[in-house]
Amino acid sequence: MKYIIDTDPGIDDAIAIMLGLKNNLNVIGFTLATGNIAPEKSEKNLKIIQDFMETNIKMYKGSHSNKVNLKTAEYAHGKDGLGYAVFPNNNKRKIEKSYAEDFIIKAAKKYKDDLTIICLGPLTNLANAIKKEPKLYNYLKHVVIMGTTFNPENSEPYMEFNVSVDPEAANIVYSTPFQDVKIVTHEIGIKSYVEKDYIQNLTNSEDLVSRFVGVIAIKYMEFCEDHYGIIGLGTPDPTTIAAILDPTIIEFKPCKVNIVAKGKKKGVCDITLENSSNFQVSVDLNVEKFRNIFKKTFK
Ligand code: BDR
Ligand code: CA
Repeated sequence: MKYIIDTDPGIDDAIAIMLGLKNNLNVIGFTLATGNIAPEKSEKNLKIIQDFMETNIKMYKGSHSNKVNLKTAEYAHGKDGLGYAVFPNNNKRKIEKSYAEDFIIKAAKKYKDDLTIICLGPLTNLANAIKKEPKLYNYLKHVVIMGTTFNPENSEPYMEFNVSVDPEAANIVYSTPFQDVKIVTHEIGIKSYVEKDYIQNLTNSEDLVSRFVGVIAIKYMEFCEDHYGIIGLGTPDPTTIAAILDPTIIEFKPCKVNIVAKGKKKGVCDITLENSSNFQVSVDLNVEKFRNIFKKTFK
């Protein structure tokens, strides 16, 4: 299987990407989403990540017609998006000339059933691809999304960042009849947190990538403690990638998704379980399995 990662890196996106690459996920391209940080910062950070990973995977940004969302999350991801880490602006890597949505369409037509798109940020790029090629679902079959909220015991939805940044895009994506869509919710990403001690120890690791993870994670860990009361690193995006590496980490159930795209409750997402559906939502996870794969990768 080949993968496109659509991402707004961001601390947990960066860690997710490195988790995937270190475990040989066959990534054929990155498309840059706007969410956690402004697009130019996403671009800079992805180049830094590729430097650390010593990879040379193609990178595509959204077209000029993309709405640049003003709602970013430096409060969680730090001024430049990689926590307290600071890097110069002199990276020589190049972004491709063609746009994210065109790359998604082209790759979907070329690889069909052999391609999965993993969306770790707001869904603007995938929605733009659908607008441009409304029959995209005939080619692109597999979509994995980090976003939305769902708690089987208490169905009260709350606002989740990736949906709330671009609810119109989410509405388009969740209204498209893709054959296989898996949704990893925010609840699962918080439940799968990695203990604070473990992350702090990574900052002394002999392994460069693991140490990088430890250093950038500190800021997001502080955010998680303040906002969710967890003593550790929340991992919405890394859990999403881990569930691809090992499909037994998350349990999914068929569901119906309703995005409120207009009005006062704009950005709220309502998920109900169904008997059968092409869309599946995460309902539970094996925390230990997730932590094992995280700790085997970063140590
Ligand atoms: C999502 O929003 C961002 O904070 C994270 O990168 C993740 O994709 C969680 O709601
Ligand atoms: Ca993200």
